[in-house]
Amino acid sequence: MSRARVVGIVMDGNGRWADLRGLPRTEGHRQGSRALFRAVEAAICHGVEHLFLFAFSTENWRRPAEEVSFLMDLLSKNLSLQRARVLELGVRFHAIGRLTALPAALRESIRRLEAASAGCGVVNVYLAVNYGGRAEIVDAARAACRVGGADALDENSLERHLYAPDAPDLDLLIRTAGERRVSNFMLWQAAYAELVFLPVLWPDFSHVHFDAAIAEFSRRRRRFGALGD
Ligand code: IPE
Ligand code: IPE
Ligand code: MG
Repeated sequence: MSRARVVGIVMDGNGRWADLRGLPRTEGHRQGSRALFRAVEAAICHGVEHLFLFAFSTENWRRPAEEVSFLMDLLSKNLSLQRARVLELGVRFHAIGRLTALPAALRESIRRLEAASAGCGVVNVYLAVNYGGRAEIVDAARAACRVGGADALDENSLERHLYAPDAPDLDLLIRTAGERRVSNFMLWQAAYAELVFLPVLWPDFSHVHFDAAIAEFSRRRRRFGALGD
């Protein structure tokens, strides 16, 4: 039985959590950002080395402008306010996605936290913002072609230009809120990921749910196309 060293989470269900309580969707996002720390702590307990968290997709710009700007502002504030907690946990923080399209304040918060946590090594946490799996593959292919020419493009050269080239493929991909789709998250790295779909809405996510996903992962038999044992 192998360990889940690399885990990705599609943190979904903030809007439904708020709807159920007659609250604005923004309140769901606010509570969702608390759940994020519970996920990081649980990942550390399980010895996860790389944790990818989907916060905002390349398609989420299609939402109302007020919701988008609330999310950008919330992310930016949290990255600044939670700095001490991030460092205390030993989290090495990274952001992945098309970051140049983000508001300047958010880019600055990202830059600062990446710099401040550069010496941490308990777990690598990658916040996916303005992230799309297709965009990442296109960006990586372009970068690889610039360096080595189109004819030399192969899986290895493309992988060297992914947003987080040092992280191995995903072992486990968790999605909350019951939706059974990947919604453009880590299409390349999830090629052989075990998929675990949980009904819990993201703001209610806690250690219990992470434990359940890891337990489910440990029951799976991975074969990677071979015959297995
Ligand atoms: C996930 O929650 C957060 C983002 C996609 C930004 P949603 O906002 O998608 O919540 P639901 O799916 O509408 O419940
Ligand atoms: C995926 O969730 C994106 C994030 C969690 C950031 P969505 O809520 O955007 O996905 P769909 O629209 O249900 O596929
Ligand atoms: Mg959703």
